[in-house]
Amino acid sequence: MKQTWWKDSVIYQIYPRSFMDSNGDGVGDLRGVIMKLDYLKKLGIDVIWLSPIFKSPNADNGYDVSDYQDIMTEFGTMADFDELLEEAHKRGLHIMLDLVVNHSSDEHKWFVESRSSKDNPYRDYYIWHPGKENGQPPSNWGAAWGDSAWKYDEKTGEYYLHLFHEKQPDLNWENPKLRQEVYRMMNFWLDKGVDGFRMDVINFISKVPGFPDGEMIAGAKFGDSGPHFLNGPRIHEFLQEMNRESLSKYNVVTVGEMPGANVEQAKLYTGEERNELNMIFHFEHVDIGNGRYGKWDPQQWKLSELKRIFSRWQTGLEEAGWNSLYWSNHDQPRAVSRWANDSEEYREISAKMIATCLHFLKGTPYVYQGEELGMTNVSFEKVEDYRDVETLNAFRDLYGEGRLSLEEMMRGIHERSRDNARTPIHWDDNENGGFTTGTPWIEVNPNYKQINAKQALEDEHSIFYYYQTLIRLRKEEPVMVHGAYDVLLEDHEQLWAYTRTLENEQLLVVCNFSDTRQDFELPESPAYQRHELLIANREIEEGSSAQSFTLEPYEARVYKLFK
Ligand code: NOJ
Repeated sequence: MKQTWWKDSVIYQIYPRSFMDSNGDGVGDLRGVIMKLDYLKKLGIDVIWLSPIFKSPNADNGYDVSDYQDIMTEFGTMADFDELLEEAHKRGLHIMLDLVVNHSSDEHKWFVESRSSKDNPYRDYYIWHPGKENGQPPSNWGAAWGDSAWKYDEKTGEYYLHLFHEKQPDLNWENPKLRQEVYRMMNFWLDKGVDGFRMDVINFISKVPGFPDGEMIAGAKFGDSGPHFLNGPRIHEFLQEMNRESLSKYNVVTVGEMPGANVEQAKLYTGEERNELNMIFHFEHVDIGNGRYGKWDPQQWKLSELKRIFSRWQTGLEEAGWNSLYWSNHDQPRAVSRWANDSEEYREISAKMIATCLHFLKGTPYVYQGEELGMTNVSFEKVEDYRDVETLNAFRDLYGEGRLSLEEMMRGIHERSRDNARTPIHWDDNENGGFTTGTPWIEVNPNYKQINAKQALEDEHSIFYYYQTLIRLRKEEPVMVHGAYDVLLEDHEQLWAYTRTLENEQLLVVCNFSDTRQDFELPESPAYQRHELLIANREIEEGSSAQSFTLEPYEARVYKLFK
């Protein structure tokens, strides 16, 4: 029997660098995570996903690994990790690691060897190619953050491929030896007892042979290379092999990060009989409102569009596969700022509203650190205060080349920079929010005096306790895990209403995404005999009707309907 415990689990993401600093060096660490395990247990989550904790020169905060079997110096030691794993397991918490194997760091010993000569045994661990006849890069592909995806290496006179930063060379999955090394390394961690992996851009690992040029789109610097490496020709073969050689031997949870994957592809990646992954992260909802320059000139988005995307995924994976549910992570703005309203007046209620909306969908919910406190985006005035390589490169290119004015660029950064989610967690109202006794690696959000864990834990109506209830309900209500999803009022621009149905039980979820009052009327069907209020983000009078009611700004209610 296949284990599916991850279906009724809630996963909490920790970005260790910004979670808790135990030794005052300004950088969060593993001992800091150990200190906060009881806090996480209290929240009620089941699984902790740790963003990369491996040795790394940190060109991309650990997503550039220089040793997959050692711990990042700033984060601690292997002994600290073993203790963390043991302490988590003692509390019934699972640990999921971040597997970054589309690329490594250029400081990984494989790459150091690989670049040293053309006949080095590690040469084919990476993707090397001679330039075009005129010496130009082998293809017109651009890297994620503005440069060519090919870097010329003097030593051997060839180019290597890097879909991200030049310090993140892509691994060559065509090489069976490399693949075996990856599976061996995965088994090393699984044998230690880790409970699963989140897999970084895992649908990038199979490239179209010959690296054909991408189509040139007007105004773009580079060709559209996506079709040549997204969900590439051998991706399913590689994932099935990985499953055979590693995952299938353990009782684990897996989620593949997959930009550019659609529902049809997700069925192939997550179909239970296909032995690939349990679920994937797609990007369709987080990309809405992108403008001409992608996320850097954000536009107004429509609720109907957001609902259409989620509804398509909910229905699409109903029979085959499984959804992951997320509003935010370390690459996205803070949930309440992006999807709700982070003003003083509405922050709390609207943070609870979007939480309700997400947690009642079908799939495994992910909570990104600080989301349970309603932490908000940060607006540093000076670009020098940002640390993220993506943000700094965008500033260099879009502002530097005059495509966005300074004001437009800073607006894009304030709304969408990855650093919004990377400022340290506010534990209390002491200096630096109690995150560190030293100088934090990135400034703390100045609103830590109002928004912090200590205050949340002392207030029974806090966002924290609301999340705690949502997480508990998942354990108590099978319909929340297994019920079928049906959207109501599809085109409504303020309300997101849906039902979840399992046999005789039905949940009615109604969320007001606007700052105005909204009337709700239940359509003819579903018909029911009696109802019960399951949860709401404000006081609701006893005996309220589920049939028709008026929602206050950002109100959310869930009724249980008995047929
Ligand atoms: C996706 C990760 O989530 C992001 O933080 C990272 O920069 C890229 N992949 C490259 O590893």
